Amino acid sequence: MTLSKDPLLQPYTLKHLTLKNRIMSTSHEPAYSEDGMPKDRYRLYHLEKAKGGMALTMTAGSAIVSEDSPPAFGNLYAYSDEIVPWLKKIADDCHEHDCAVMIQLTHLGRRTGWNKGDWLPVLSASPVREPAHRAFPKEIEDWDIERIVADYAVAAQRMQAAGLDGIEIEAYGHLMDGFWSPATNHREDEYGGSLENRMRFSNMVLEAIRKATGPDFIVGIRMVADEQWDIGLSKDDGIEIARKLVAGGNVDFLNIIRGHIDHDAHLNNVIPIQGMAASPHLDFAGEVRAATKFPVFHAARIADVATARHAIAEGKLDMVGMTRAHIADPHIVKKIEEGREAQIRPCVGATYCLDRIYEGGGALCIHNAATGREAKIPHVIPKTTGSVRRAVVVGAGPAGLEAARVLAERGHRVDVLEATGEAGGQILLAARNPRRKELIGIVDWRLAELERLGVAIHYNVFAEAADVLEHHPDLVIVATGGIAQNPVLSAGDDLVVSSWDIIAGAVKPEGPVLLYDDNGAHSGMTAAELIANAGAELEVVSPERMFAPEIGGMNHVPYAKAFAEKNVRVTINTRLKSVRRDGNSLVATLASDYSESATTERRVAQVVVEHGTMPMADLYLELKPLSRNLGAVDYKALIRREHPVVVKNPAGSFDLIRIGDAVASRNIHAGIYDAMRYGLLF
Ligand SMILES: Cc1cc2nc3c(=O)[nH]c(=O)nc-3n(C[C@H](O)[C@H](O)[C@H](O)COP(=O)(O)O)c2cc1C
Ligand code: SF4
Repeated sequence: MTLSKDPLLQPYTLKHLTLKNRIMSTSHEPAYSEDGMPKDRYRLYHLEKAKGGMALTMTAGSAIVSEDSPPAFGNLYAYSDEIVPWLKKIADDCHEHDCAVMIQLTHLGRRTGWNKGDWLPVLSASPVREPAHRAFPKEIEDWDIERIVADYAVAAQRMQAAGLDGIEIEAYGHLMDGFWSPATNHREDEYGGSLENRMRFSNMVLEAIRKATGPDFIVGIRMVADEQWDIGLSKDDGIEIARKLVAGGNVDFLNIIRGHIDHDAHLNNVIPIQGMAASPHLDFAGEVRAATKFPVFHAARIADVATARHAIAEGKLDMVGMTRAHIADPHIVKKIEEGREAQIRPCVGATYCLDRIYEGGGALCIHNAATGREAKIPHVIPKTTGSVRRAVVVGAGPAGLEAARVLAERGHRVDVLEATGEAGGQILLAARNPRRKELIGIVDWRLAELERLGVAIHYNVFAEAADVLEHHPDLVIVATGGIAQNPVLSAGDDLVVSSWDIIAGAVKPEGPVLLYDDNGAHSGMTAAELIANAGAELEVVSPERMFAPEIGGMNHVPYAKAFAEKNVRVTINTRLKSVRRDGNSLVATLASDYSESATTERRVAQVVVEHGTMPMADLYLELKPLSRNLGAVDYKALIRREHPVVVKNPAGSFDLIRIGDAVASRNIHAGIYDAMRYGLLF
């Protein structure tokens, strides 16, 4: 066996622990916990990364050490003894694959809400409200400090008892660094003022942990070393804190963060989403490493292997975090080791994963339906144990491409029919927003996989039943997608244009524009952003309580930024009723769902509407009577993961399944999940 020279695959020794390579997943709460416990869903999620070759998985995200740090997004209860056996199972399973397991512990301080958990008041170094979670914290008192320091120490002991390889203390945006930052520490006692005083609480915690866990246990800190904030912690102070922590001898690694997270707009700079710079803080993390000469870990949009390799080769980092990259593909290391780097499913930065946890759901990847569903959906698709099918997939949008990929991996013979000259469906539209162009990776990765699997895509075939039957299929997947539809208007349907017209460039923005978004998702906002950036005067009108409620907090930021910068007027709680022509203008009548008497008018040059899509169902309806199942699906069987097709027409020659937006207007993940779960059952 020849040893790899790849810098990423070199082992790294931290105290007594040898990490087999340089790739880790940094702490992130996927909100898979059940009653604060990391049960099977959690375990299988981390196990998959261990199977995929990762050296270190940092579990939890902000596991909470005290009851008055109520969970903000499914956080684990590190304050409960009950957690120990659950974590032990994760550690044992991952250790079998030589993957080290640590956990992040914290007291969330003001970064949570008081009306959760046990309804205890939240606290902070000083009573400064955090806009993101809106709680007004009480100023921490001496008896709080005493009990919370003890809570950290006991929680650390629990993690040690669970057989974890170490812990990491969270110190950005939470209680601990709240003491460090001049923005949140206005105290005049021994915990405020000088850097020594502001570090007193963190030193007390780290000393207590070290005392409780002994000299050998690995204890790191994920710390902000520059808040990039005029009223916050400066770079000089941040690096000085790092130096002092190292000198204090109670930490074994630094995991470096730059920026502050009190508002979504700032959180995006710490965890950049698509359209933002890649690896923006890597050089800074390298500076901290050089200044401290101490082990440094770091993650922030290091999504590709080349950048990760550069980070290690150039000595900027000791361990490189590729966190969302592993949510998209948990088998990155394995693919590098096997020379299959090109097969890595790319993280396209959509940040659907993170936005979902802030909206109260579990983390899901926009284009990997197996992540977080490991108990039911495998990351490596097994060959079918049944008969090999002749499958025709109609439509090469995300759902159709995924269906073709999964069926081909299963060993079926697959042909794809695409009406246009290009694959991608609605992703081609979405990617016309320059900020979101990386979405095309969802299409490109699948096209490359289909080529590898030998699947033929027949372009420019606007398929009718005869075109499908020509291939003599015994399975037909209809993934024909949808077409933009108008909202219900009492008049003026012929006077409006759709968001698609604007995004595709078929209609030029002509101000003043009124954009009515009766969907709440990306398409309306993308059209609005393009209109605003084209310089047209714009008002966005929504019947919702906030604009674009289907878009999570992090994806909200760039739209809100564009609207603020371009002076876009946003009107909520308002419904478009009708449009009429008046001379050279259009007059839009607006009304309120909350009051029948509240109507108003806007005189504009253009009305753009967004109301999701209408399924393109003609082919499905034509094929339905010819199919064995008459298009019917047994949902109960589908959920149980059993063959979902019932024979209703024995004369039929094929099973017929309709997926994605061809069924109803949804999103990319829904289409890909449809394709995956049906595909696995044939
Ligand atoms: C779903 C999700 C939850 C996260 N929760 C935490 C958390 O609780 N604590 C933390 O330090 N970082 C958290 N993060 C941030 C990640 O650790 C990481 O810093 C971030 O995703 C940037 O790295 P990446 O670009 O490699 O994904 C979270 C990230 C995601 C995607
Ligand atoms: S949802 Fe987007 S950002 Fe999150 S892992 Fe998937 S591709 Fe990456």
